[in-house]
Amino acid sequence: MKEIQTVGVVGFGVMGAAIGLNAAASGYRVIYKELNEDLVASMYDKWVLQALRKRVDKGKMSPEEMDTVSGRITGTTRYEDLAACELVIEAAVEKMDLKIQIFQDLSSACPQDTLLVSNTSTFLIEKLMEKAANPSRTAGLHYFFPANVNKLVEVIRQRETGDDTYEALMEFSKRNGKVPITVRDFPGFAINPIFISSYLVLDSFLDAGVSVATLEDISQKTLGVRFGIMWVQNGSGLGTCYHAGESMVEYLSDTDIGYPSVPEALKAQFESGKPWNLEDEAVSTDETVRKPVRERLLGGIFAIASHLVEKEVVSIQDLELGVRTSLAWPKGPFALMNELGMNEALRLVKVSVEAGDFKMPRKFGDEDLSPWPL
Ligand SMILES: NC(=O)c1ccc[n+]([C@@H]2O[C@H](COP(=O)([O-])OP(=O)(O)OC[C@H]3O[C@@H](n4cnc5c(N)ncnc54)[C@H](O)[C@@H]3O)[C@@H](O)[C@H]2O)c1
Repeated sequence: MKEIQTVGVVGFGVMGAAIGLNAAASGYRVIYKELNEDLVASMYDKWVLQALRKRVDKGKMSPEEMDTVSGRITGTTRYEDLAACELVIEAAVEKMDLKIQIFQDLSSACPQDTLLVSNTSTFLIEKLMEKAANPSRTAGLHYFFPANVNKLVEVIRQRETGDDTYEALMEFSKRNGKVPITVRDFPGFAINPIFISSYLVLDSFLDAGVSVATLEDISQKTLGVRFGIMWVQNGSGLGTCYHAGESMVEYLSDTDIGYPSVPEALKAQFESGKPWNLEDEAVSTDETVRKPVRERLLGGIFAIASHLVEKEVVSIQDLELGVRTSLAWPKGPFALMNELGMNEALRLVKVSVEAGDFKMPRKFGDEDLSPWPL
């Protein structure tokens, strides 16, 4: 395996630029590809020069460091210029046909042993790589927004990903100061199935008349986070949340895992173009309102986390680490279940199953009440 020295990034938008800057700051040379010369220039100005200047102004970086990091990054409009890269990370817009085409073009332009990875959020890696010339050199490398701050990276192994490819990507992630976890190719991978179902469950209570402010407060208190799930949805963009929800439902609702449906309220709010109004009403303290929300939220988190490990998408330890790292929950699903006690966890999973959000995971169906080995 050739040592990774030069990293290609296809699509230098929000994610691609953060991934590229992170790699450049870690000592890699970076070549990004954009659609045309104007975008090559404007993206460099916006994401490299302006972003680094802000760090210099805040005293977080010296002007010399800024020159070194920005000097490691160059842009192009041609795939051929990415032939110099040992690794190419695709971070173009979320369109399947476009991504399949990009990997076909990269396969023609780059040497056979180049590692080709996608930062897709919703598509199966195996599907995106169907026209790649050397599938053993392909994988997913899923960063989390904001990619310069969020430390989690899911290293996605598709069926044909080679061991040396996987190991090189784990090593690359660590050298970028990231926390990598190992995930099998699966709809949404490991973290998003938990995050997306959490907001679908919460948003469904809007259809039942619970206020946004109350749902935000319940999610903060239940999960022990400063910024609750309604707030995080606004940060991700409600359009992205809506489409990601639809995609998960399409992949999973008819399987033995199941998935909560996409509430009307989320669709309507996304179509209105406005974010959730986190101060729409006073926070309700009425336990008859709060308890069903809390129970279905936790029950859903416990159900999907159990399904993910039972389907061998991710290990218990990696999912626990991944949730804490990417979502900033002080405790992941398994620590939460162990702490509440497995009898209570079973009761909450039954609440989720009875609400039709998920099917029963094997462990709970068997009434196996042994704590999760953490
Ligand atoms: N934004 C997030 O929170 C987030 C988180 C994780 C993963 N992702 C994934 O990362 C990818 C990029 O998302 P984003 O939010 O950075 O989008 P973005 O729209 O900010 O950036 C995409 C960039 O790709 C460029 N592009 C499109 N086609 C191209 C091509 N053929 N060649 C070169 N450049 C091309 C566009 O000009 C644009 O600058 C998507 O697959 C998305 O699902 C996004």
